[in-house]
Amino acid sequence: MIKLNELVAAYTTVRGSVKAVDGVDLSIPEGNIVGIAGESGCGKSTLLKVVYGDLTYPLALEQGEVSYGFADNDGQEVTSATIQEYWFKRISYIPQSSMSSLNPVIRVRKQFIDFLEPKASKDETLDRVRQYIQQLELPVEALDAYPHQLSGGMRQRMMVALATFFQPDIILADEPTTALDVVVQKGILLLLLKLQRQMGNTILFVSHDMGVHFQISHRMIIMYAAKVVEYGESPDVFSAPLHPYTRMLIESLPDIGDDHLRAGVSGRPPSLWDDLSGCRFAARCPLATELCRQEEPPLTEHRPNHFAACHFAGEDIPDVEPPL
Ligand SMILES: Nc1ncnc2c1ncn2[C@@H]1O[C@H](COP(=O)(O)OP(=O)(O)OP(=O)(O)O)[C@@H](O)[C@H]1O
Ligand SMILES: [Mg+2]
Repeated sequence: MIKLNELVAAYTTVRGSVKAVDGVDLSIPEGNIVGIAGESGCGKSTLLKVVYGDLTYPLALEQGEVSYGFADNDGQEVTSATIQEYWFKRISYIPQSSMSSLNPVIRVRKQFIDFLEPKASKDETLDRVRQYIQQLELPVEALDAYPHQLSGGMRQRMMVALATFFQPDIILADEPTTALDVVVQKGILLLLLKLQRQMGNTILFVSHDMGVHFQISHRMIIMYAAKVVEYGESPDVFSAPLHPYTRMLIESLPDIGDDHLRAGVSGRPPSLWDDLSGCRFAARCPLATELCRQEEPPLTEHRPNHFAACHFAGEDIPDVEPPL
């Protein structure tokens, strides 16, 4: 079990500190693919950085910790404060833009070797890497290239290869396919899925694309303004969403063969600098009442393994005429 215990993480800025993850508290069973969705700026990437233990200025963990379900050699439970020692070996991270994550002046093959145990000889290591690349049906020549010589899709496949080489227990992937065309996207997702099935690792996967989440995730985390507003098993979240925000995200998905324009999610999330008392979604919510504006709803288990932070979780949303 990976446990996110009451995480509060904030960025230091010239205007003061801003909480981009504000009280996230949940457990993730091993071997799950967990999708993370929510509009831009709601804290998805920050949450992944916290789980990776990549807490460098201006980001700091103000409260809470992550535990990963394994101990170090001394029997101490590994947490977000000590996970750095296990980067690549037990947890790996595919950041939002692969262009910046592979060092542009270093050939791809050296980036692999740099992460391998120093005790293995260079030739031996390179052999293992070549074998692995072949196993993934990727071109071995890509290892001799510099990252900018590869297409975006190939770079991202090499990132997936690098991130899975050690068979880590946990893989964090931040929009690994955004900005790539649909066919390439699909290829990369299939590669990641195939590896996940073989290795049984836990994947935390950020995407704006609810269609992708529907296809690949076992569980969903929906974030809004630095908070988790819904968390549950994907079939439940997609078939019976509890939070009005989740419903809006799902309803903005076009059905196949549907040529109507969808309403989408109107309005924008509040700035994290604003007064955020009450429910953060209240200003956009068709169900909001005075209670919602006054009192923040806690994340509550409304059905088995299905959590939502809403005073009116699961209640029908009245039909409103869509604006022309
Ligand atoms: N380096 C930083 N310094 C200050 N504030 C930051 C920094 N990085 C992110 N933030 C703020 O933290 C909040 C959450 O950002 P984050 O990148 O986690 O969002 P996100 O959900 O990943 O968005 P996107 O979908 O656009 O990638 C945003 O309001 C953002 O402005
Ligand atoms: Mg992001």
